[in-house]
Amino acid sequence: MRPLGLAVALSLACALVACSNAPGDDAPLAAEAAGEAGSPWPEVSWPLAEDPAIEARIQALLADMSVEEKVGQLIQGDISTITPDDVRTYHIGSVLAGGNSDPGGRYDASPADWLALADAFHEASMDTADGGHAIPVIFGIDAVHGQSNIVGATLFPHNIGLGATRDAELMRRIGRVTAIETRVTGMEWAFAPTVAVPQDDRWGRTYEGYSESPEVVAEFAPAVVEGLQGKVGDEDFLDDAHVIVSVKHFLGDGGTTAGKDQGDTAVDEATLARVHGAGYPPAIAAGAQSVMASFNSWNGEKMHGNRYLLTDVLKDRMQFGGFVVGDWNGHGQVQGCSNEDCPASINAGLDMPMAPDSWKGMYENTLAAVKSGGIATERLDDAVARILRVKMRLGLFEAGKPSERALGGKFELLGAPEHREVAREAVRESLVLLKNNGGVLPLSPKQRILVAGDGAHNMTKQAGGWTLNWQGTGTRREDFPNATTIFEGIRDQARAAGGEAVLSVDGHYEARPDVAVVVFGEDPYAEFQGDIPNLLYRNGDTTDLDLLKRLKADGIPVVSVFISGRPLWVNREINASDAFVAAWLPGSEGEGVADVLLRDAGGEVQHDFEGTLSFSWPRTAVQYANNVGQEGYDPQFAFGHGLTYASPEELAPLPEEAGVDAGGGQRGLWFARGTPALGVMHAFEGTDGGQQSIHDLPAALPDGSLRMTAVDHGAQESARRIEWAGAGAWRLELNTPTDISRESNGDLTLQFEARVDDSPEGEATLGIGCGDGCGGEVAIGNLLRSLPGGEWTTLAVPLECLATAGADMTKVAMPARLASDGPMVLSVAKVSLESANAAAHTLDCTR
Ligand code: BGC
Ligand code: BGC
Repeated sequence: MRPLGLAVALSLACALVACSNAPGDDAPLAAEAAGEAGSPWPEVSWPLAEDPAIEARIQALLADMSVEEKVGQLIQGDISTITPDDVRTYHIGSVLAGGNSDPGGRYDASPADWLALADAFHEASMDTADGGHAIPVIFGIDAVHGQSNIVGATLFPHNIGLGATRDAELMRRIGRVTAIETRVTGMEWAFAPTVAVPQDDRWGRTYEGYSESPEVVAEFAPAVVEGLQGKVGDEDFLDDAHVIVSVKHFLGDGGTTAGKDQGDTAVDEATLARVHGAGYPPAIAAGAQSVMASFNSWNGEKMHGNRYLLTDVLKDRMQFGGFVVGDWNGHGQVQGCSNEDCPASINAGLDMPMAPDSWKGMYENTLAAVKSGGIATERLDDAVARILRVKMRLGLFEAGKPSERALGGKFELLGAPEHREVAREAVRESLVLLKNNGGVLPLSPKQRILVAGDGAHNMTKQAGGWTLNWQGTGTRREDFPNATTIFEGIRDQARAAGGEAVLSVDGHYEARPDVAVVVFGEDPYAEFQGDIPNLLYRNGDTTDLDLLKRLKADGIPVVSVFISGRPLWVNREINASDAFVAAWLPGSEGEGVADVLLRDAGGEVQHDFEGTLSFSWPRTAVQYANNVGQEGYDPQFAFGHGLTYASPEELAPLPEEAGVDAGGGQRGLWFARGTPALGVMHAFEGTDGGQQSIHDLPAALPDGSLRMTAVDHGAQESARRIEWAGAGAWRLELNTPTDISRESNGDLTLQFEARVDDSPEGEATLGIGCGDGCGGEVAIGNLLRSLPGGEWTTLAVPLECLATAGADMTKVAMPARLASDGPMVLSVAKVSLESANAAAHTLDCTR
């Protein structure tokens, strides 16, 4: 299994030509720590001595447990599909709450509902009525920036912002607060920290990483682990004010080709260890109790099936003494496996498959494999023992139900003032000042400040993904009772100092402001839904740029505050601003921004900027994998850059060559995985012809005639459900009109991957628009009615039909417009140009 030959060959090759993904030789960590010659993996010493009492107890249990109980112990199901009764019946060892899984299916379920659910699972696991053993279930949740699934929790900046603080001591305090708030609602396990070292900023999970630099990640990892778990040797280590961690995702998650989520990390072993592995040795040395296997492959082999890395490297060489949990059906991606069946993964070293909706099949098939010898008893016992050991170290057997533990139900601790103070400090330290010409910052709070931009008063945007739900979309201001938006922070401080801050999202004003603070940036996303083809901000949509320019043209000094989960190419926006601040995804404490931007009432600077880039800022929109230490390193703003008030600097205008065309996405792909493709926007059109572009979900026209929500198709939230309550249209629009006359001259069709949830009673049409008064449409009501309802299928309209109906294919501005004159419900995953034979149902417009 051990790919030694390959590794040696690759590292030789790397010595001759620079390996594209490898930071320079001065990345010291693994090189120094590497032990025995030839192995790039450092030896680690597990910090916890064997506890004879625990070991005796484990042996006694193992000797007495049925094989069914043992297998149940390995399985983790998701609360959306597993019930307390299932836990009781199958002796399930663990449950999780995935990003979209909540008590009662409500993303805004109350903390009390969460705690009651945790109690119910615990009690079920301790029920011995069927003669089984009482083994407490362990409940895991993505407390990745605070206990971020729970209304009212303190929300810390996402890791990309924390990386900019370079403050490991602060990470310890953040971990501590997160552990406390997690315990309040009954969970004992945070699926954190992410120690990915993202190398390509197109990756949708870039913001979950602290830095592109393995050194920063290696410094932070043990601090966060100790914050969440407590420090090995201290009295309070793993006590009931702490939780266990999952250091994730092992291994190579941040190194996939082109930043594709769940993709392949094609690097040599030395790079894998030195760059992507950097966080693990220090986290293990700090006593990390679990590690999560990664979705990605390493040189073509899925990590969930990689015995060499999961067992030989992680458990043997690094002496990891906790257990390995899988990622969301990650085992199902191993060759020869399915979500319900994967002995290979357990044999490779996975101790607890995360089988959210597949737990029952996994239980049955794992049991069968154990009985047939497909999984050896020693492996089974080792996995069970590892899980039991962690539960015993945590004192879970004696802890009682979650609501009876020290912090259970102390809801006043969610968003407690002293917790929010830590988060506010983190916001202050995370801000990176990229431009401050003419010393426009810091601002006097005594002036009239216009606060503009769609991020100014927008908790959804400020908090980013993994907030109350998986994608972090569709939340409302009132879902964040203990929080301040960036605008509110500025408003309060200005008001207290005798000045005035006025909110105007679109930047229009009546009384002329002295200065404008414009807050704009990315909308929330998580995982693969955040993957992008290049770093062009908003696909070249210039709405924000236009706002900055308009204010500048009015002679108003402009301060930009940019919200983003990664560095993006914004040279034009920077040029249009007097000052530019990278604020990342700050979380609940928007006032931390005012703390740095505004002087105090007496005219003194409150806090200078301390943040420095932990990711290099790109010079063009195609410079997505240019990382510190690499050959040819040439960013716009280097790793470590960040201006301060103490040493002012002027920034000359930046080049405005993006290196990529706006709207230059994949040809003929307009809408995919439920989102508009690069260079495409989507909008609703009401009966009055008025239109409203769609950003956050759910989206609806004010009169309720059209509504859009996210639905699943293969992957979570990868399609959109569109409900027509009355007449109206859903349309896709291109930022730059395109010529598809070549495509039209053949058998190409406009194809929808869709599901008819409710077929139209009246007429429905599909059209293509080519500017004012130009377009063609065809009736598709009969086609829709002929489709199997409630099933995903493909339907297509030949481009030729649309051309005949009047669409000028040389200047297509609206590649699809779907209209209905009455109620209909359609879910759409993809809209693209495809050849005629690709569709299950094609309109015959010749009849
Ligand atoms: C993510 C993990 C997360 C898990 C549980 C997965 O899709 O990759 O980071 O912990 O889901 O929500
Ligand atoms: C989970 C994620 C998972 C996703 C994919 C979400 O509900 O929280 O962790 O990756 O579903 O299906």
